[in-house]
Amino acid sequence: MRKIAVIGARGQLGSRIVRGLIARGQAPGAIVAVVRTPDRAAELAALGCDLRRGDYDDLDSMTRAFAGCRTVMLVPTFAPVEPRILQHARAVEAARRAGARRLVFSSFIASSPESPFLVTPFLTYAESALRVSGLEWTILRNGMYADPLVPYAPDLVASGRIPYPAGEGKISYVTRDDLARASAAALLDGACAGKAYDLTGAEALSIAELAALITKITGKPVYYEPASDEEFAAMCREPGLPDYLPQALVTIYHAAAQGFLGKVTGDIETLTGKPPERLESFLAGPLAS
Ligand SMILES: NC(=O)c1ccc[n+]([C@@H]2O[C@H](COP(=O)([O-])OP(=O)(O)OC[C@H]3O[C@@H](n4cnc5c(N)ncnc54)[C@H](OP(=O)(O)O)[C@@H]3O)[C@@H](O)[C@H]2O)c1
Repeated sequence: MRKIAVIGARGQLGSRIVRGLIARGQAPGAIVAVVRTPDRAAELAALGCDLRRGDYDDLDSMTRAFAGCRTVMLVPTFAPVEPRILQHARAVEAARRAGARRLVFSSFIASSPESPFLVTPFLTYAESALRVSGLEWTILRNGMYADPLVPYAPDLVASGRIPYPAGEGKISYVTRDDLARASAAALLDGACAGKAYDLTGAEALSIAELAALITKITGKPVYYEPASDEEFAAMCREPGLPDYLPQALVTIYHAAAQGFLGKVTGDIETLTGKPPERLESFLAGPLAS
């Protein structure tokens, strides 16, 4: 059985990829779920996965964790750019040392060097590192998650305002479930080697269109009133969140304003045979209730 390792397996995307692999017929015992603290991964253990300890900050732990795996799925962390680059370099080296044949990387749609998104230098580095790794590679450029709109919505509705500084730019929001289904399909299909996919939602919406959609679903008026960069950064500052995050969020919307988040492709359907869920259908249940 060809084992597949997923690092970041306890996370919201990684755990869905593990489930996606099982749904596509991979035996749970042939999925190596790589986590920092196996004691906290009871759900993955209950699925029957081969649970192993591996830390992006510890080369040897990853080399041990990837042992016997043909393919390694790299779901990145939330670390700031420079340490995240080092984490990725270690993970690629660990895969090589462990004898893996193929790497699949969760990138982001705004990975082109011209994008103003603060994390883009990590993405351009990480994609290049895969291409020169000497291993087979597949790059999955994930669109902007739709999922966080659900917990943000009550505040947006209460204030009647969406403050994202995205100008007229459009965003092709996509759900983690769809990204995970597509990632699992790519992991299991050797024909994806040497290819990059842009995993986007079915349509791209401006923030004004998003406001209209939330108004339609909730029946409560919400308008697009962009904040200044300073005001928006202050809104994003919360205890416990990484220091770089407010500026990352400001620049992600600058990237949207400049057209880096609005691409719409059929790549999810190409990989899975099923189109991605539309934003209205995804938001309708949780926001209407
Ligand atoms: N496309 C988008 O819109 C978007 C938005 C935000 C972020 N992202 C990127 O996508 C990634 C996955 O998203 P997500 O929603 O799954 O995030 P998440 O739920 O926070 O999961 C991140 C995972 O990274 C693991 N991790 C953190 N530091 C690690 C380390 N040193 N070694 C090994 N694992 C480590 C965490 O492990 P523990 O369980 O041990 O804490 C966690 O399981 C994020 O980390 C970020 O890079 C994309």
